[in-house]
Amino acid sequence: ELPNEGKIICTSPSNIALVKYWGKRPVQLPENPSISFTLNTCKTSTSLTYKKRDVVSKDFDFELLFEGKPKPDFKPKIQSFFERIEEYLPFLKQYTFTIETSNTFPHSSGIASSASGMSALAFCLMQLEKKINHDIEDEELLQKTSFLARLGSGSACRSIEGPITVWGKHHEIENSNDAFAIKFPHKIHQNFEKYCDTILLIDKGEKQVSSTVGHDLMHGHPFAERRFEQAAENLTKLKHVLISGDMDSFIEVVESEALTLHAMMMTSLPYFILMKPNTLSVINKVWGYRKKTGSKLCFTLDAGANVHLLYPDSEKEEVLDFITSELVAYCQNGQYICDKIGLGAKIL
Ligand code: PMV
Repeated sequence: ELPNEGKIICTSPSNIALVKYWGKRPVQLPENPSISFTLNTCKTSTSLTYKKRDVVSKDFDFELLFEGKPKPDFKPKIQSFFERIEEYLPFLKQYTFTIETSNTFPHSSGIASSASGMSALAFCLMQLEKKINHDIEDEELLQKTSFLARLGSGSACRSIEGPITVWGKHHEIENSNDAFAIKFPHKIHQNFEKYCDTILLIDKGEKQVSSTVGHDLMHGHPFAERRFEQAAENLTKLKHVLISGDMDSFIEVVESEALTLHAMMMTSLPYFILMKPNTLSVINKVWGYRKKTGSKLCFTLDAGANVHLLYPDSEKEEVLDFITSELVAYCQNGQYICDKIGLGAKIL
């Protein structure tokens, strides 16, 4: 029995990869496994209003509001998402949907909203599925939510749960698979339990390369095969590091992954440099600060110029002093966002 009408509201966060996903094959399957911290503050809130249609046509029926205003440019993305997931959610055409969404982080800040946005929508849709199919178990619900989120945007599948998730088959991580992300299945050393991520907004300009184009550039890339193996090796290292608490090895793997991601873009055809001069200045400052103080502060990057600064909560005061005195000068309009590890999507 399909419910007649109602509304589901949820929030879902962004995530930051420690081992990067870069390269995919159809349909949104990763060429290598990846692992990420789920964030807490950078998130999307989505409300899904559903109403049963009197006449069902062959088209989906939905309306989209972003921060209260109609958003026609997002429609094709949602349309193709619905087409992709319809075989798993056969009720989609039975409803008229209104999808209202907003982000906690500034619009066009260079922070990708696809992970939080797609995971939030997948989460709402699966809550509706649960109202229809009462038998679905919690575990299956989470897996299917991550699975649908993946079909919206690959890395979105890592945002459903927290604090650390793994996506992609890896021989040393039990139950890992390409179809959906799972929670990192080991006890995390207390050194990594409370981690902060301060995101320095270096350049808020439009992305030069969409991630779809970026992933595609790994096909026929001269270093692709070795890169995919290296990602798996780095995940093995990181697994042991997260269990043992070895913070120096953590820094080594995480920074190397960030630079490798950019190295892949610099060595593809066409080639891109997504870092800005200020990105490099910040990286050098971080290295100098670490050398001087013995801090465990490190950086990582997404497919853009912004810098994510990762550090243990115990260093918060000193690192924030360092950021305000030395790094804010490199941020566009002095903007940065303080975030930390979080627990994933939730219903409101
Ligand atoms: O989910 P996509 O297709 O936008 O890919 C994101 C890829 C990176 O953010 C660069 C790395 C990652 O693993 O999140």
